[in-house]
Amino acid sequence: APAPLVDPFQRAISYLRVSVTDRCDFRCVYCMSEHMQFLPKRELLTLEELDRLCSSFIMLGVKKLRLTGGEPLVRRDLMTLIRSLGRHLDSGALEELTLTTNGSQLETHARDLFAAGVRRINVSIDTLDPEKFREITRRGDLAQVIRGVDAALAAGLKIKINTVALRGVNEDEIASIAEWSHARGMDLSLIETMPLGDIDGDRTDQYLPLSLVKARLAQRWTLNESAYRTGGPARYVSVAETGGRIGFITPMTHNFCESCNRVRVTCTGTLYMCLGQDDAADLRTPLRASEDDGKLVEAIREAIRRKPKGHDFIIDRRNAKPAVARHMSTTGG
Ligand code: GTP
Ligand code: 5AD
Ligand code: SF4
Repeated sequence: APAPLVDPFQRAISYLRVSVTDRCDFRCVYCMSEHMQFLPKRELLTLEELDRLCSSFIMLGVKKLRLTGGEPLVRRDLMTLIRSLGRHLDSGALEELTLTTNGSQLETHARDLFAAGVRRINVSIDTLDPEKFREITRRGDLAQVIRGVDAALAAGLKIKINTVALRGVNEDEIASIAEWSHARGMDLSLIETMPLGDIDGDRTDQYLPLSLVKARLAQRWTLNESAYRTGGPARYVSVAETGGRIGFITPMTHNFCESCNRVRVTCTGTLYMCLGQDDAADLRTPLRASEDDGKLVEAIREAIRRKPKGHDFIIDRRNAKPAVARHMSTTGG
């Protein structure tokens, strides 16, 4: 087997996140501007090219593959790609094929996802109040997303709910989102908002440190540190009273870069070695240069040798510009 991907800090790269489209049917206030400009469709890698790209990473030792967006399920014929990638689960080369979705199209696709070998998905829900949901997503319909969640559970998929903690917006709702999730057997991950891309408002107003949220939850419930890990950045506690888990994704208050195992590819074939850095590698050119994957594999190896130590996000009123100009939807988080 080829040598696995190891970066200069001795971190093995086993987790690939692929943003299959930069488009989304929502415009979440912490993610995008109302007037977000999307890429012209001709810039996109084809589904066949995305398949080749993912397969090369799997050949190089990637065990966990997550499709993201934008909203991955708005990409036309995405199920064809997912079904095709399922072959790597059958062969045992890939351990997990999964996706992060806003849930808007889940009702339609839940059963097909399960049939293709997907067993666990992450669904973003920042509030359970229908009006607030419309305000945060600017477009979304909470009832439709909940129908998607129900369909996914009925199809046998495990779900983790993702909630971005937003000061003064959903901070009073976090315990009830946890109760709602746990009652359905779903984990909840809370996320600190990160400064990527221009949005219409000021992120400083949105930012809520999870250390504060955790302290509040600990007053209400008995939280026990959990050893549960998914390969992502969340650190979990179990809640004695609900029997469920809450994950904390804390890029701002507690950096987890030391144990980073992941890289990301955009829908145009750009490889980002770190979510919080601009350094990137073009994989589309070597991908299109020949039918043979040799050049592509060499470009991937070369890029991993440049993976930075970590991000240097700050959210600070005196430094209003985002740390990274690209939007979260370019790399899918
Ligand atoms: P699991 O497999 O369930 O652990 O998923 P995950 O947390 O890896 O993926 P998901 O797409 O649900 O991402 C949840 C949040 O974690 C998103 O806001 C991501 O941007 C963030 N996240 C994931 N990986 C990284 C990372 O390497 N650095 C930073 N700063 N944030 C990350
Ligand atoms: N900071 C933190 N999380 C974000 N997400 C989108 N934009 C941001 C941001 N700026 C979340 C989404 C989704 C996940 C992929 O990333 O809500 O759950
Ligand atoms: Fe779309 Fe997700 Fe960004 Fe919301 S956070 S606009 S659902 S990509």
